[in-house]
Amino acid sequence: MGPLEIAKKIAAYKAVDEYVKDNSIIGVGSGSTIIYAVHRLVERVKEENLNIVCVPTSFQARQLILNNHLTLGDLETYPKLDCAIDGADEVDSEMNLIKGGGGCLLQEKIVASCADELVIIADYTKNSQQLGEQYKKGIPIEVIPMAYKAIQKRIKDNYGGNIQLRMALAKAGPVVTDNGNFILDWHFPQGLTNWNKINIEISMIPGVVETGLFIKMAKKVFFGMPDGSVKEQ
Ligand code: 5RP
Repeated sequence: MGPLEIAKKIAAYKAVDEYVKDNSIIGVGSGSTIIYAVHRLVERVKEENLNIVCVPTSFQARQLILNNHLTLGDLETYPKLDCAIDGADEVDSEMNLIKGGGGCLLQEKIVASCADELVIIADYTKNSQQLGEQYKKGIPIEVIPMAYKAIQKRIKDNYGGNIQLRMALAKAGPVVTDNGNFILDWHFPQGLTNWNKINIEISMIPGVVETGLFIKMAKKVFFGMPDGSVKEQ
C-alpha cells in the first residue's frame, strides 16, 4: 500500500474508533477514503458486536454497506443521525470543505445536515490554508440539466473563472448524478474568500440544486499524514 492509501486508512480508522458508538445511526460518505472507514466498521461490528445502522450518501455508499453486510438505513426511517463520516476534496483552515469530486455532493450534504456531527477523513493532500490551494478540479455544483448553460453563464459573469460541464469518460456525455442531474465544475479565480456568501448566492440561482461548498459543517477533520501520524483539525 502506498503512502496515500496508508494516510487514508489511518485517518478513517481513527475517526471510526473515536466517533462511532454502540447503538448509533451513522451516515456513510462516498469516495475512496470512506472504504477504509467501512472496513473498520465491519471489524468493530464483528469484534465488539457493535449495533449500528448505516445511512448511505450515494449509490456507491449503499453498495458498500450492502456488500459488507452492515445494516442499511435511510433518512425516512432515521431522519436524525448521530454522526456522518465522509471524505473531502479539500479542507481549509476554517473548516470549509470542497466536496463532490465523486459527484455525490447533494446526498452527502443532506445526510451531513441530519447528523449531530460531520467527521471528515482525508489524506494529507486535502489539507489547505485556503480553498483552491491543493484541489485543482474546481467546486462541483449540481444543477438541473435544462439549466446548465444559463447557470454556467451566470456564475462566470458574477465571479469569473472557468466553469465546465463534467463529462463522462471518453466524453461520452455529461456525468449524470444519482439524482439525475448534471455537475458543473467551477474553477474559481484566485482571491475569493467569502465562501459563506458565495455559497448562499450560488445556491439561490434557479436550477442550482446544491453546491460542493460545505461551510463550517464539519465538526472534526482527521488527516492521515505521510509520516503515519494523524493530524486533527
Ligand atoms: C464524493 C466526495 C468524496 O468524499 C470526495 O471526493 C473525497 O473522495 P476521496 O476519499 O476518494 O478522496 O465528495 O462526492
